[in-house]
Formats: sequence, structure tokens, C-alpha cells
Amino acid sequence: MSIFARMNKDRTIVIRPMRTGDIERVREVGQIAWSDLAMQDIGRRFRYPKRSEKLIESYMAIEPEGCLVAEMDGSIVGSAFCHVWGGVGWIGPLEVLPDHQNTGVGKALLSACERHLSERGCDIIGLETMSHLPKNLHFYLTSGYVPTSVVLIMEKRMLGDEMHTQFVEDIDVSGLPSVLGDVARLGREVSPSLDYTDEARMAVERRMGRLFVSKRDGEVVGFAILHTYQKGEEARYSSIKALIVDPGRSDQKEIFDALLDRCEQASASMGKDHVLVRLSALSPELYQHMLSRSYLLKGANVRMVKKGIYEENGKYHITSWAG
Ligand SMILES: CC(C)(COP(=O)(O)OP(=O)(O)OC[C@H]1O[C@@H](n2cnc3c(N)ncnc32)[C@H](O)[C@@H]1OP(=O)(O)O)[C@@H](O)C(=O)NCCC(=O)NCCS
Repeated sequence: MSIFARMNKDRTIVIRPMRTGDIERVREVGQIAWSDLAMQDIGRRFRYPKRSEKLIESYMAIEPEGCLVAEMDGSIVGSAFCHVWGGVGWIGPLEVLPDHQNTGVGKALLSACERHLSERGCDIIGLETMSHLPKNLHFYLTSGYVPTSVVLIMEKRMLGDEMHTQFVEDIDVSGLPSVLGDVARLGREVSPSLDYTDEARMAVERRMGRLFVSKRDGEVVGFAILHTYQKGEEARYSSIKALIVDPGRSDQKEIFDALLDRCEQASASMGKDHVLVRLSALSPELYQHMLSRSYLLKGANVRMVKKGIYEENGKYHITSWAG
């Protein structure tokens, strides 16, 4: 994307792609914006951890023109990240320094992200945000986003007694080429434009986490992407970025469980306290199932879409558009 500038209240907002030298400032901006939000939201002074440097570098490596900063008077005051999963493009996180909020910086970043995702050929453009924040809802509703589903944020405390999992393989760099075609195929089965290839590659090649595949009779029938690097590198939790099961199978639930067991086992063996998942509330069966597996509901986001129609097939999967 080229650099573009917008005048706002006699000041110029410059939106440009992020550079390696910006990373530390982008981490600071994120920390200040989210800490301020926590103060407003829960009334408690809370210093939000800085986002992992490794995570930002990975986003920049995969989508260099989709990682953006907003500058005013030569200083970075906001940032945003675009993600392209085949034809599905989503935005997040997006943040603006509190002193510069409500002056149009957020909307300038949002429009630049949308332009980038359209140029990348995305036929779906969406995002997830906190459903209880009037400002965020106003911000996205007035930008043309329509709520499509509630996304449940659930968490399980790790007790370290997770069972060994059968039929699930851990994929390393050498095994990646043989499964990426299946990762792409299974994504499309769940939603026609969805392709997790780059996300799976990022997890393995850049050591952001782990990729597990489940096989039945030699065929890949599901996969999970577990992020083990979150916010600070020392984060005590891991997060399941995606868990996809072939929706045409009658044994979806068993495949889902095998992959979830493996994610939990890997998290426990890495010393993580808990595992975080974000899943659609459109499958009450899945919610019940997660409760039966000792996951607790911690909150909810709302998924919003501006372009295209996004629907998912099958009941047992975890997809998250949260950065
Ligand atoms: C959400 C965020 C990125 C918006 O950035 P921003 O620079 O303030 O956005 P803009 O100035 O372009 O627009 C803000 C809009 O919210 C409105 N607004 C401000 N406070 C509001 C409130 N309490 N209730 C409703 N609307 C509110 C403003 O009036 C403006 O709307 P308008 O353009 O119709 O007048 C910024 O608030 C932020 O960084 N928040 C913390 C992190 C976060 O929540 N990120 C989004 C996660 S999905």
C-alpha cells in the first residue's frame, strides 16, 4: 500500500506500512491504549502487557503491506493489522493512543485496512470487538460493519494431567509441505473462502506455536493451530487460533476432542496455566461440550462483517478473528 494522508481538524494523519524500526513504538502504543481501555472499562489501573515482538514480526512477514501505522506530526499515534486467510480478510488489533482518540485516527486506519484487504482480493472483510463497549460498537456500526455472531471467550485451567492423544500428529517444518494442501481444503469445507495456509505456516516456520493434524485411514480430517507466544513472550497461557474438523464427517466430535486434547497436553507440557479459546455461540452444542470439558465462559466478542457473507459449516470447530 502506498502512503496516504488525511486532514483532520487542521492536522494531517499519515497512514503508512509499518517498518521494523517502528515495532517498539507500536508495542508501546498498544500497551498504552489497552491499559487506558482497561481503566475505563473495569475502573482498575492495569498495565497491559506489551504485545509480543515476535508476533508483530510474524504479522509483518506475512502481510507487510497490511501492518499499518498512523502518524501525526511525525510520531506514531496508532496502529492496525490486517490478516488474509484466503478470501477472508480480517482486521485486528487496531489501537490509537488515548490522547489522539476521537479525532478520526481510528477511522483513517480502518479505511486503510479495508482498502488493503480489498486490493488483496478478499471477498469477506470483518473483525471482532468487545460487545459491551458502546464506543467500539458505534465505531464499527458507523463504518458499515454488521454484527453476524457472538464469539464466546472461554478458558480452561491446566491441571497437568491431560491424557495422551491418539491419531494426532505434531507437524514440524519438514512435514509442513505434505499437509498444507489439506489445511487449505479443510478451511474451505468450513467456509468457502477460508484458507488457513499462511496461519499454519506462520505457527510452524516462525515458531509461534504448533500445528497438529488428525488423520483417519491416512486422510487428514482435522487440524489445530495452537499459539504459544502471546503478548509478552513469557505469557502463561496459550490460545487455540483455529481448530478445524471436516464438517462432512459423522465423527466430528471425536476428531475435535482428539485435537483439543493435544492442544491442552502441549500447553501443559510448556508450563502454561490455562488455554484460551474463542468460538462461535451459534453452536449451543459446542458450548455445552466445552463446559463438559471444564472450559469456563470469560466474556464475549461480537463478530462483525462489512463485505460479503460469512457462514461456517459444521458444529465442532474453533475459528477466531482476534489478533
Ligand atoms: C477503538 C479505537 C481504535 C477508535 O479510535 P479513534 O481514533 O478514537 O476513532 P475515531 O476518532 O475515528 O472514531 C471514534 C468514534 O467513536 C465515537 N465515540 C467516542 N466515545 C464514544 C462513546 N463513549 N460511545 C459511543 N461513541 C463514542 C466518536 O464520536 C467517534 O464517532 P464519530 O466519528 O461518529 O463522531 C480506539 O478507541 C482505541 O484504540 N481503543 C482501545 C483499543 C480498542 O478497543 N481497539 C479496538 C478493538 S477491536
